[in-house]
Formats: sequence, structure tokens, C-alpha cells
Amino acid sequence: MNKKTIKDVDVKGKKCLVRVDLNVPMKNGVITDENRINGALPTIRYLMEHGAKVVLCSHLGRPYNIFNDKIKKIKPEDEGLSREELVAKTLKKCSLRPVAARLNELLGGKVTFAEDVIGADAKAKVAAMKEGEVVLLENLRFHEEETKNDENFCRALAEFCDIYVNDAFGTAHRAHASTAGIAQYGLCEAAVAGFLIEKELEIMGGALENPVRPFVAILGGAKVSDKIGVITNLLEKVDTLIVGGAMAYTFFKAKGYEVGTSLCELDKVELAKELTEKAEAKGVRFLLPIDTVVATSFPDPIDGEIAVETVPSNAIPADKMGLDIGEKTQALYADAVKNAKTVIWNGPMGVFENPTLAKGTIAVAKALAETSATTIIGGGDSAAAVKQLGFADKMTHISTGGGASLEFLEGLELPGVACLDNK
Ligand code: 3PG
Repeated sequence: MNKKTIKDVDVKGKKCLVRVDLNVPMKNGVITDENRINGALPTIRYLMEHGAKVVLCSHLGRPYNIFNDKIKKIKPEDEGLSREELVAKTLKKCSLRPVAARLNELLGGKVTFAEDVIGADAKAKVAAMKEGEVVLLENLRFHEEETKNDENFCRALAEFCDIYVNDAFGTAHRAHASTAGIAQYGLCEAAVAGFLIEKELEIMGGALENPVRPFVAILGGAKVSDKIGVITNLLEKVDTLIVGGAMAYTFFKAKGYEVGTSLCELDKVELAKELTEKAEAKGVRFLLPIDTVVATSFPDPIDGEIAVETVPSNAIPADKMGLDIGEKTQALYADAVKNAKTVIWNGPMGVFENPTLAKGTIAVAKALAETSATTIIGGGDSAAAVKQLGFADKMTHISTGGGASLEFLEGLELPGVACLDNK
């Protein structure tokens, strides 16, 4: 990586404003997945051990701007609520307080939570910090100026910042105040990467730029339109491209197959044709499901019982929808992965939230777990699937970025990285 990291600067006695991605999933105030918290720990620990005053900041969810005078209500169900009720509801759902409590447990009782971001509480708590201590600010997005990359908000945040550290890989595709603005406006002595960003870029960048071959990419998920950039970029780099998930049905349509009531983007059929031709021209092995698990409708509830049958992919009945890859496809994909040396996977193969329709995703996860290849899971749903199915510790790397890893796999420059000091 050509960007400076925390190892390139002297942090002793300095206020280090560290943007982390603590946007963790929560249910009723309980954190349900700690991957992002764990991902942030090496940088925080290093800074503590090296005598920095560590001011952590993050967003959580996409909340209302409750620290502004006027809250813009967006959701119809909130229309009748008073300001106080709306603030209470937002705090309950999106406060970082539970994350601060968990961090405090993990970091030996050295973490204090600030009730605001740039307000009196944050100022007082940061002013009282000693070397090796940590303050976590409240949710940055309680200020709308955060996502607007407002210069005054950047300046207020920079009061807590001698050295700016970005370690929020999951949010590095956003050009917000805390992810890019502080460095862009030159409001710090140095702007450097933390260990998580460094690790994510080295592993994923290494695979993209210099893969040990054969290099296989597995792409799933619902829409071709979400993955156009990734497919286009990966076709330049991989030996084999495997497609699963509902995205496959648009490719089926491009081949002239009946897709029944399956999800299919009719306006992307031409594009699917072009991408298939491009793969052929490049000599990339392009694999689509050869058999498909179908049902009469989408499961409702999503994890409810469902009657399915498996049909050849070119014979989906007109009144059925595809919801997973079939057994023959599972074997084909597992075989392609078996001989690979590098595998990148993004997007599930079917409706993995449903036990009957998770089999394709499980088979791919299992194949990845068993291969000796370097295996990289590109965040989002595939990371959730690997964890939910119990294969997480068998993977070389599970990215903490959903949208960020997708943009990185597309070959785009991430603003949260671009703004950092070059080596
Ligand atoms: C994520 O969960 O992908 C990141 O934390 C970014 O969140 P955002 O999409 O709300 O910017």
C-alpha cells in the first residue's frame, strides 16, 4: 500500500481521531455480530500502547439528524411523533452507547462514551483524557453535516485531532466529513491508515493485482445491475467467473431460456449477453447454474417451510421461480473451486436465510472451507452467510466492507483511502 499508516507517525501524547466502522448489526440494543468491532481492535490497541489519546468516531445505521434544530422526518410512521419522542426512538436504535460498553470490556475498562459528537460532553471528556485512554463519540450521523462533508463540522471534529487515522474500511467508499473531509481540508498534522484498512487493501488488492492462479471469482446476489462494475473489472483478472443467486436468471434470459416468475432484470438482458461474450473473448471460463431449485413463490416468512423441486436451468416451468442453485451446479462449482489458488466470493447463491434454499450457498461455503486456496469473502451478505453457516474461521479473510469491498472489487478509488498521506 502506498499510503502512510499509524506506524509511520509518532503518536505519543497526540490526540488521534480514529474513524472506525462500528456500524454493527443490533437487535434490541444487543450487538449480533462483532466482526467490525474485532476488526478495529488492533489499531486501537496499538495507539493505546504507544501513548496516544484515542478519540474514536463512527456512524451506526442511517439515523435522523437529532443534534440539529430541525429534524427532517422521512419515515411515514414517524409523522405524528414529537421531537422528544423521535429523539428517544433514534437514540434507542442508533446510539453507539452499547458499542462503547462492549469496547470497554474488550479494552480493559479504558473506554469512555461521549453523549454527543462535537458538543460539551465530547469536549470535556476529550480534554480530560490521559495517554492510552479512549473516548468513543456518539453516532456521527446524528449530525447531517457528517454525510454532507460540511467544512465547519470537519473543523469542529478536528478539535479532537492532531493525527487523523482512518480505519473504517466499511465506510471508505463514502466521502463524508469523518471519512475524507478532515484530511481533504488539511485539518490534521498527518492523515494515515489504520491496520484494518491496510489489511483489507493488501489482501484484496493483492488478489486483484497479483493473484496466484487459477483465480476464481464467485458472484451471487439479486441483481446484475448491482454487480456490473465488479463483473467487468473481474473479467480482466480472473480465470473462472462463477455466477449464482437471482442474478443468474438475467443471464439465463440472455441465453433465451424460460425463467418463469424468477427475478429477472429485463433491461439488463442485453448487458448480460455482452458480459458473456466478453468472457468468451477473454478466454475466461464463465459458469452459470446448470440446474436450479424452483418453487411456486418466494418463501413467506423468509425462513418458512417451502416445497421445492430441482429442474435443468433451461427448463424452468413458466409458473415457477428460481431460488437456489441445484445439486449438479453445487458439484460443478465445488470442483471449480477445488483446483483454484485464489478465490473471491461476493453474494449468496440462493435465499440462504431459508434452510431449504441455503443448500447452494452452504455447498459453496463448504468448498471454500475445504480448498487450500486463499479465500476472500467480500463482505455484505456473503460474509453474513459464511458466519451464519459456521464457516467463518475456515476463510483466509472476511472483509468488513459490504459496499466498500464491492467498489474496491470494481477497481474504484475509495475516497477514505485516497485522502490519506502518501508514503
Ligand atoms: C456499511 O454497513 O456498508 C457501512 O458501514 C457503510 O454504511 P452506509 O451504507 O450507511 O454508508
